[in-house]
Amino acid sequence: MVFEDEFDNLEALGLFIMTLNGGSVLAPWVPTRDEILPYIVSLAKIGPNDVIYDLGCGDGRVVIEAVLRGARGVCVEINKELISKAEEKARKLGIIDRITFINDDFFNVPLSDASVIYMYLLTSVNRMLKPKLSKEVKLGTRIISLDFEIPGWRPVHVVKVSLGYRDATLYLYIKGISDVHEINI
Ligand SMILES: C[S@@+](CC[C@H](N)C(=O)[O-])C[C@H]1O[C@@H](n2cnc3c(N)ncnc32)[C@H](O)[C@@H]1O
Repeated sequence: MVFEDEFDNLEALGLFIMTLNGGSVLAPWVPTRDEILPYIVSLAKIGPNDVIYDLGCGDGRVVIEAVLRGARGVCVEINKELISKAEEKARKLGIIDRITFINDDFFNVPLSDASVIYMYLLTSVNRMLKPKLSKEVKLGTRIISLDFEIPGWRPVHVVKVSLGYRDATLYLYIKGISDVHEINI
C-alpha cells in the first residue's frame, strides 16, 4: 500500500496493521521527503565509520544518502517490491556492495551492529520497538525518528525542517543518554 503524502493523521485512526510475508506491516510506505535527507545526515553526524540501519527502509533513500557520504548501511524492509527497488537504486549508483538488504520484519533483525538507526514509523510502533532498542542497541548509537517520538525517551536534539506547507520534525536520541531516566508516558 502506498500513500501519496505523510501520514500525520494515520495514528489517530488506530494502529495500521496488515500482514505480509508472515510479518506485520506496522506502517505504510510514505517516503521521507528528499529535502529532509541532508538534515538526517548532519544531525546524526554520519560518516565513514558508521553503520546505518533503516527499520522499514522503503525504497532505501535514507540509507543510500548515508552510504553516498561514506557510511555502510542495512536496509530492513518487509515489502519485497520495495526492497527490490532499493537494491536496484543502489546497484545503479554503484554502491550495492556497501549495503545489506534484508527482506524481513524488523523485529527479527539484530541491531547490535548499528551506530545509527533511522525510523519513520509511528509513535505506537516506536513504543513497541523500545524493548528491542533497549536490549540490543549499543551505547552511543544515534537513533533518529522522523515526526514520531519514542515515548518516554528524551531527545537530545529536535530539528524542524520546513516543507512549505508544514514542518517535519527530526528527533535525535542517543542510547545511554536518552533512555536513562525514562518517563512513563
Ligand atoms: C513510513 S515508511 C518509511 C520508509 C523509509 N524509511 C523512508 O523514510 O523513506 C515505513 C516503511 O516501513 C515498512 N514496514 C512496516 N512494518 C514493517 C515491519 N514490521 N518490518 C519491516 N518493515 C516494515 C513499510 O513497508 C514502509 O516501507
